Amino acid sequence: MNTVLITGCSSGYGLETARHFLAKGWRVVATMRTPREGLLPRSDRLHVLPLDVTQPGSIAAAVEAAGPIDVLVNNAGVGVVGAFEATSMETAREVFDTNTFGVMAMMQAVIPQFRQRRAGVIVNVTSSVTLAAMPLAGVYTASKMAITGLTGSVAFELAAFNVRVKLVEPGYAPTTRFADNGAARMQGLIPETYMGFAQPIFAAFANPTAVTTEKDVAEVVWQAANDPSERLHFAAGADAQALARAR
Ligand SMILES: NC(=O)c1ccc[n+]([C@@H]2O[C@H](COP(=O)([O-])OP(=O)(O)OC[C@H]3O[C@@H](n4cnc5c(N)ncnc54)[C@H](OP(=O)(O)O)[C@@H]3O)[C@@H](O)[C@H]2O)c1
Repeated sequence: MNTVLITGCSSGYGLETARHFLAKGWRVVATMRTPREGLLPRSDRLHVLPLDVTQPGSIAAAVEAAGPIDVLVNNAGVGVVGAFEATSMETAREVFDTNTFGVMAMMQAVIPQFRQRRAGVIVNVTSSVTLAAMPLAGVYTASKMAITGLTGSVAFELAAFNVRVKLVEPGYAPTTRFADNGAARMQGLIPETYMGFAQPIFAAFANPTAVTTEKDVAEVVWQAANDPSERLHFAAGADAQALARAR
């Protein structure tokens, strides 16, 4: 039986991805900063473990407790919306700690076992902002673009050991906690001088023409995890797929 370890399973894409792999008969190590019972269906194939990707001790303990894994899904992430000039370096570091260094640390924690077994897949969840630049998302985009570059490079290195590395690029989902979480960090990050520019963008996000659902992302993560080819990019959701095509 295959085992997947997923980060950030307390809500949104991560939670739905855990459900999806469980439904497919996999052993699922669903990790959360604060584990909560009852989010996922009861199963002897489900193991809920604490994991904060910014804490090296937490990563080591979770990877040890998980036992051998076949697929790592780096889903945990945080957002920030704001004019770049108003976004403090402290906020930028906070976002990079989770979205960039957290992903790097998780990859380094599992690569040795994958390399030794000459098998394994790493799926890094980035964002459609890496497909086409979006205003007021500079720091977030930078944190995810770093993972695009890293993933492409490491995919070459690990191919020699039969280990695959994939990118899932989801579009905008108004239904996860992500938008609120990004907006919460926004306080004070759109100075008055930017408001005329920002308002139409917020209006467009309030009435999107196409969105991504949790199920779209879970299905695409599943496809990426099971894809035997060298394909790197997997856009997820109607809006992200349209951007990928346009690009
Ligand atoms: N929703 C969108 O529009 C969208 C679009 C493109 C890409 N994405 C990406 O998709 C991924 C999932 O986002 P989502 O939409 O499902 O948002 P979400 O509902 O806010 O879920 C984010 C998850 O990440 C977890 N997390 C945050 N910081 C963490 C840390 N330091 N260690 C471990 N877990 C941490 C959260 O846990 P807590 O409950 O502990 O906070 C939560 O489980 C993220 O990487 C995000 O950047 C989202």
